[in-house]
Parts: sequence; C-alpha cells; structure tokens
Amino acid sequence: MSSAEDLQRIEREALAAIAAATTPEEIEAARVAHTGRKSPLARMLAGIGSLPPEQRGPVGKAGNAARQAIEHALEERTSAVQADALASRLAKERVDITLPGDRRKVGALHPIMQVRREIEDIFLGMGYAIADGPEVETEYHNFSALNTPEGHPARSMSDTLYVDGEHRTALRPQTSPVQVRVMERQEPPIFAIAPGAVYRRDDVDATHSPMFHQLEGLAIDEGLGMADLIGTLEYFVARFFDRSLESRLESRIQPHFFTFTEPSIELHVRWTDKRGRSTWLELLGAGVVDPNVIEGAGHDPERWTGFAFGMGLDRIAMVRHGVPDLRLMYENDLRFLEQFA
Ligand code: DAH
Repeated sequence: MSSAEDLQRIEREALAAIAAATTPEEIEAARVAHTGRKSPLARMLAGIGSLPPEQRGPVGKAGNAARQAIEHALEERTSAVQADALASRLAKERVDITLPGDRRKVGALHPIMQVRREIEDIFLGMGYAIADGPEVETEYHNFSALNTPEGHPARSMSDTLYVDGEHRTALRPQTSPVQVRVMERQEPPIFAIAPGAVYRRDDVDATHSPMFHQLEGLAIDEGLGMADLIGTLEYFVARFFDRSLESRLESRIQPHFFTFTEPSIELHVRWTDKRGRSTWLELLGAGVVDPNVIEGAGHDPERWTGFAFGMGLDRIAMVRHGVPDLRLMYENDLRFLEQFA
C-alpha cells in the first residue's frame, strides 16, 4: 500500500471516530488515539526519515495536512458537543418565569409584643429609657424595698409564686421591683420604663392569667408630682388609642392604694366585656412614689420626688383590638394571631 493511501485511511478513520464522539470524554479518547504519540499518524510521520529522499517531502506535506484536518475536526466536534450539552441543559432546567413564585410565610409579632413596642416608642419619645430586671426576683426587691411590709397580703403564698422554701425569691408578681433596681444604680433625674412578664397565682378567667405582662414607668426629678403623672397618663392614652378629642376612649382616674405610692390611683377605661356589657377595666396602677422607697434606694426624698405607674400590657392589647377574652392571647391559635400579622 502506498503512503498516500495509508494516510487517506488514517485520516478517514480518525475523522469517523471524531464524528462518532458524543461526549467530551469520547472526543478526548479520539484525540489520544488519532493524534497521540502512539497513533498511526504519528508512527507514519515518524517513519518519513526512512523513506527514499524524493518521497519524504510530499509524504511529510500530506501527513501534516492530514494532522491539520484531524485537529480541525476535533475542534469543531468539541464545540458542537459543548453546544449540544448547553442546549440540553437549558431544555432540562427550563424555568417558567410566568409561574407565581414560592411564597414564603412571614412571621409577625404577637399582638402583646406589638403593643409593647408601640408603648415603648411613645415613652422613648418623651425621653424615657428602657430598663430591665430579673424575672426571678428577690423578696427584698419584690416587696421590702417597695414598702410592702411583712404580713401584707400581696406577699402571701396564695398570690405569689415563690421559687424557694424560705420565700427569699419569687417569680416577680409585678414589674415594680425594676423601679428599685433602676434607682439603686442610677442618680436622679430618672425617666425609665421596664416592660416584661410577671407571674401570679391568679385563677384563669377572661381578664386574668398566671403569666401576663406589665410595663412599669418611673419618673424621679425635682418637683415632680401627681399633676405630672396625670398629664403623662392622659398624653399616653390619647397617643396610644389614637382618638380625636371628641371620640376619645373614655377613661377615668380613681383613688387607690399601693404600698409604694402615696397618694395612689388607678386608670380605668371603658370597654365591652365578654357578655357585651360596657364596664370599666383597670389598665394601670400609679401614684406618687413613697418617700420610703426613694430613701431606701439611696436618694434624698426631700430633694427627689416623682411618680410611677405599672400598666397591664395584655389588657391594653385587649382594649386596643376589642378582644373579649385574655385567654385568646395565649392559645396560639393561628386563626386568632393571623389577624394581627
Ligand atoms: N405594681 C402594681 C400592680 O401590679 C401596679 C403599680 C401601681 C405600679 C402603682 C406602680 C405604681 O409603679 O406606682 O398592681
């Protein structure tokens, strides 16, 4: 067989193998087999030196032409296979951008937390800072420092959830101990609020729960008194319940008694109870801070006076949303909670 015929056969076989390759791996195998060092073409070119001199030139030329044709075919086949692969991926991973997207369910704050944040904002706007205190609180901060004497009914086992046998620590029954903690660590003037959970051995009914939320307020400065307290509460009620003067939520202030304030008051608002009756609901207790409390926390009660209040956040949320039963707030029924999302 002549060298020219050999070359033609070599080229033909190489091109056929390349044309048959359908993956990058198969193309690579064809490249090694037909242009590699052990390929028929390489062997043929290596043998040129032993040909008669007059054949070396033409055979070398033809050999190089065959190599170029094979390499060209490899390149073409490579791009064709890549294009096929891309096309089939595009077909397989096709996305219909006209379909509606996957909606992600977004959580929302609990209605009590929403109300808490809103009230915090109102008091932050009046220059109050937010303070914090422990939920497991000492007997001293829960009662003694708040001028609540031993033997006072508020201390009794039937009201307070003690966490030790000696009654030295209890789940705080009110946020008022935070008042004391703030006064202990800060010099007046003090304008602070302290929101958080409180615990009592209350029976559960439509307006009571053994765990609920309060927001305590404390203002201590020179010359502060009952008028400042009432002005602050009226401003708060108007801002929070967002009523015009004509249709303002009906509220009233009544005298009351707390051991840590003198005089003391309660703020009530008009609301409609479970049975559809319009009644008064207590939203907060307040008063002018008793001098004993100020003195006990290390400040001169002749110079520093002020007021304090403790509001029930759960009840405020009930009034805000017209929820007739407090228990709904704690049942985690999504049909209820989603209305506030
Ligand atoms: N701690 C009281 C309660 O839980 C509410 C209260 C009354 C808080 C008077 C105060 C206050 O700060 O001055 O019923």
